[in-house]
Amino acid sequence: MRHFTNVKDMGDLHVALQEALEIKKDRYKYVELGKHKTLLMVFFNSSLRTRLSTQKAAMNLGMNVIVLDVNQGAWKLETERGVIMDGDKSEHLLEAVPVMGSYCDIIGVRSFAHFENREDDYTEKILNQFIQYSGRPVFSMEAATGHPLQAFADLITIEEHKETKRPKVVLTWAPHPKALPQAVPNSFADWMNEADVDFVITHPEGYELDPKFVRGAKVEYDQKKAFEGADFIYAKNWACPGVTRPEDYGKILSKDMSWTVDAEHMSWTNNAQFMHCLPVRRNMIVSDDVIESPRSLVIPEAANREISATVVLKRILEEIG
Ligand code: CP
Repeated sequence: MRHFTNVKDMGDLHVALQEALEIKKDRYKYVELGKHKTLLMVFFNSSLRTRLSTQKAAMNLGMNVIVLDVNQGAWKLETERGVIMDGDKSEHLLEAVPVMGSYCDIIGVRSFAHFENREDDYTEKILNQFIQYSGRPVFSMEAATGHPLQAFADLITIEEHKETKRPKVVLTWAPHPKALPQAVPNSFADWMNEADVDFVITHPEGYELDPKFVRGAKVEYDQKKAFEGADFIYAKNWACPGVTRPEDYGKILSKDMSWTVDAEHMSWTNNAQFMHCLPVRRNMIVSDDVIESPRSLVIPEAANREISATVVLKRILEEIG
């Protein structure tokens, strides 16, 4: 693997899961692999889990780590070519990215959707500039339209906790006070479509995810019907993806609190286990009692971020030798 931006970069998911479970048993097994190799983690947006788990993963592999918070102490970066740079942006990404590449062996990038231009977000303009100009392997630490490290950790968590061979997994929209990107639900759909699960997506009308991520998944607008027989409930908010009405891209169309996952919602399921990528707004997305219940997987799910990142970095290190 040279770059890691979506599920296709991972290849056979059964093989990836076996590798993840092997690493989980002995996370320092490949500690020599990253000796004298440097990971640069570039954050355009905030993070708790990604920052800590990816750094820990690099340490598991014996790597050195540099972290750059672009918005805290670095020069403000221009991303558009052809702009007369007479404003507050002192440096262009086209110089900054190859300079960053000169100090490291692998680059992880976190850059969320801006919601200004759907095409810029959905063509992953920032992430692809790192791939094009850094001269280094690049992996997504959550980009505009995908969060594959999270989706891989989610898959590992489902594999570890499933109680039937082919569980029913439901991705449900839930309300939130701010407009959030579609990266997590897009990637979750992308990975569940490749996994050995019965996958259903439920959301209010207008929140249709991009067809390239939904693919053949069943979409059920009635949340109660979707929850019936579910083994895993994966809750997440996302702003309007602009699929049916491009002019609504990035807007909040609903804050309908009847979609908040509470004990009554969970009673519709097959005693489902609850999942969320975190951070989560309690009593908007999920009630206190559901997230604190013994059927909540949010903490082991976050812990598996270390494992998914270790597998990805290991594979990139094996590629670059
Ligand atoms: N789930 C996740 O990516 O968390 P952070 O935003 O804290 O990194």
